[in-house]
Amino acid sequence: MCGIVGYVGGRPALDVVVDGLARLEYRGYDSAGVAVLAGGRLATAKRAGKLVNLKEALAEEPPPAGTLGMGHTRWATHGPPNDRNAHPHTDCTGTVAVIHNGIIENFAALRAELEDAGHKLRSDTDTEAVAHLLEDELAAVDGNARDGLAEAMRRVCRRLEGAFTLVAVHAGDDDLVVGARRNSPLVVGVGDGENFLASDVAAFIEHTRDAIELGQDQVVELRSGGVTVTDFEGRPAEVTEYHVDWDVSAAEKGGYDYFMLKEIAEQPRAVADTLLGRIGADGRLHLDEMRITDRELREVDKIIIVACGTSYHAGLIAKYAIEHWAGLPCEVELASEFRYRDSILSPTTLVIAISQSGETMDALMAVRHAREQKAKLLGICNVNGSTLPRECDGVLYTHAGPEIAVASTKAFLTQLVAVYLIALYIAQVRGTKWGDEVFAMVQLLERMPEKVDKVLETMEPVRELARSLAGERCVLFLGRHVGFPVALEGALKLKELAYMHAEGFAAGELKHGPIALIEQGLPVVVVVPPRARDVLHDKIVSNIQEIRARGARTIVIAEEGDASVQPYADTLISVPAVPTLLQPLVTTVPLQVFACELATAKGHDVDQPRNLAKSVTVE
Ligand code: F6R
Repeated sequence: MCGIVGYVGGRPALDVVVDGLARLEYRGYDSAGVAVLAGGRLATAKRAGKLVNLKEALAEEPPPAGTLGMGHTRWATHGPPNDRNAHPHTDCTGTVAVIHNGIIENFAALRAELEDAGHKLRSDTDTEAVAHLLEDELAAVDGNARDGLAEAMRRVCRRLEGAFTLVAVHAGDDDLVVGARRNSPLVVGVGDGENFLASDVAAFIEHTRDAIELGQDQVVELRSGGVTVTDFEGRPAEVTEYHVDWDVSAAEKGGYDYFMLKEIAEQPRAVADTLLGRIGADGRLHLDEMRITDRELREVDKIIIVACGTSYHAGLIAKYAIEHWAGLPCEVELASEFRYRDSILSPTTLVIAISQSGETMDALMAVRHAREQKAKLLGICNVNGSTLPRECDGVLYTHAGPEIAVASTKAFLTQLVAVYLIALYIAQVRGTKWGDEVFAMVQLLERMPEKVDKVLETMEPVRELARSLAGERCVLFLGRHVGFPVALEGALKLKELAYMHAEGFAAGELKHGPIALIEQGLPVVVVVPPRARDVLHDKIVSNIQEIRARGARTIVIAEEGDASVQPYADTLISVPAVPTLLQPLVTTVPLQVFACELATAKGHDVDQPRNLAKSVTVE
């Protein structure tokens, strides 16, 4: 949930670390801090609030120049987001500094033990306990930092429960940064005469695209001349090296005011990239990365999708596609709920976990639970080198590129493409659709980037509408069939960005209660299915009439040329005509634009909405 950067090499460490933090600020922005080591002196600086506050403090009082440093941007878990609780935290002697992402679940016991032993803890955080534990272990291993810090870290990690990425430095060694990870992300950037540590490659992509994936329960010693990785017992560990296939420009705003605007605009390309290389010249789908054999797929008798937030909405849409094309029963579960009920899984159950970041703890815990029940596991993920793909039998990567804005946009559309591909692939393998039917749908999918592009070209009236509604307190969203998850997604976007009451409903449920919410002038967005689904379509037109008769201000999203909705739409947003199952690819986009513009009109920072973080690495 927090962002971490570590550096050792020949450059001014402060610059590298602060630039890295700027790229990781999406992970948390409650406070920020740095530690720099120069001439045996460990200098720290930290400030509550966004990185800009820390930058101002550093400009006023620059720390001594050094070539080793680390930095942290925080999403608060233990203790309010103030200067005192900002990381780094130091031990009693001020020679060891630590930054941390995650939650140390046994910290209360550790803290009590440390205080009993005479340690003075100054913050409310779980992290500070680690600095003091390191102090004790350094004394116990009786070494200077060169020999002792990594061993002390291993000993401390063996005592910790919960999820953590830790990075520590010691004033006694200006060529050593030590990191450790359990259930929380940490990657190494391999440079020439310099090395990096970070929660996400975005932090060091400007300097190197060569990275090392750290495994579970590993400790890394980072020196300017090399990297050593061991497990928590000190045994050498095997690591996976990889090359990052996007560059620094992909992680920058490219002229847009917000990452979110850039990411919305990138959607046609992201959709196209996710299709790339997956359709053979023979028109058949090739999803070799899934690493689940055709025989295994034929044996699957149930699919369970687990995911959170926007990814969960992609899962809800997947259910319609899987049941329709692949003819398999499909359940969709909030990952955070999945392992707390008695779900029925077996070796013939395929569990599909959807996660943009691949680090969402709820999703990871759901995957582990499914693994224990011997289900087959398939991940849909956007971040190469993240934890989720490693814990699944196979993975289908979405090729959205880095998604920096906290609110998910392009990742969602590419998740939809991924689930369509999987549903069609299963249909192909199991023979539930003829080859030509699968091919026809694949051809329609290939035309989707151009359709999304067309939606983006016509968004000015949506922006105007959004600005005009900035004073409203509540907006409702209605949909049916795959339009229902789209309504949920529209409401989620508005809640998280504009901090407004927004709710999505299945339009058919209105009469069972929510219709009581309708009052004069209440804006209600309705996602209308294509006319080809005549029963569905006609039913939702009736729903629009029902709410309009009760005073709702109707904002209707319908396919172009749909004249039947016109008389009941106060505002009509037309999207290109596409098959029903693919419609979320075009109907979601206006809702993203709507929420982004409305929130901006209210003066909110859409890239960093309050209380949120991009990657939720705690349960
Ligand atoms: C909403 C949003 C979140 C994420 C959720 C899951 O815009 O971004 O709801 O979708 O936290 O994150 P991932 O997909 O990384 O598991």
